[in-house]
Amino acid sequence: MIREILQIGDERLTRIAKPVDNAQLGQPALHTLVQDMFDTMYASGGVGLAAPQIGVDLRILVLAFDGGERSPDTPVIPPTVMINPSFSPVEEGELEEGWEGCLSVPDLRGNVPRHARIRYQALNADGALLQGVAEGFHARIIQHEYDHLEGILYPERMTESMPYQRPLQNEEAEAES
Ligand code: NI
Repeated sequence: MIREILQIGDERLTRIAKPVDNAQLGQPALHTLVQDMFDTMYASGGVGLAAPQIGVDLRILVLAFDGGERSPDTPVIPPTVMINPSFSPVEEGELEEGWEGCLSVPDLRGNVPRHARIRYQALNADGALLQGVAEGFHARIIQHEYDHLEGILYPERMTESMPYQRPLQNEEAEAES
């Protein structure tokens, strides 16, 4: 089910989200929530979505990126669920700037410094451990989504910004999360 995406100014986007309890793992309600997050992300053309963006106060992210004409050189990210995620930079202090957009921040792009490579860890909806190293665009999306769990929107971190008009239907949108 496609859910409403909260917009900047809604105080639910500023909460520190609660961890998913072990008892919720593998339950139908959690799978339904995760499916709603994917449905909502795909319907809005996003590459990532965090549960707080649909008003759910839990530490859950989804990501997926299937390439696309505008980014043929950017590696594909398979559909991924990250529950109670954590990450640490592979190289301490190495930040890389890149333009970001957010489904909760209309008509804006911001240049945001992020760690270029991170080691991440999370659970999937059945409680299986997921871990690895992400870099570039993939690492950026995880850090952007993780910020949503901490109640942070990228404008708080950006070094510069520019206005952005979302393309009309049938035009490919730039990545937003
Ligand atoms: Ni976002």
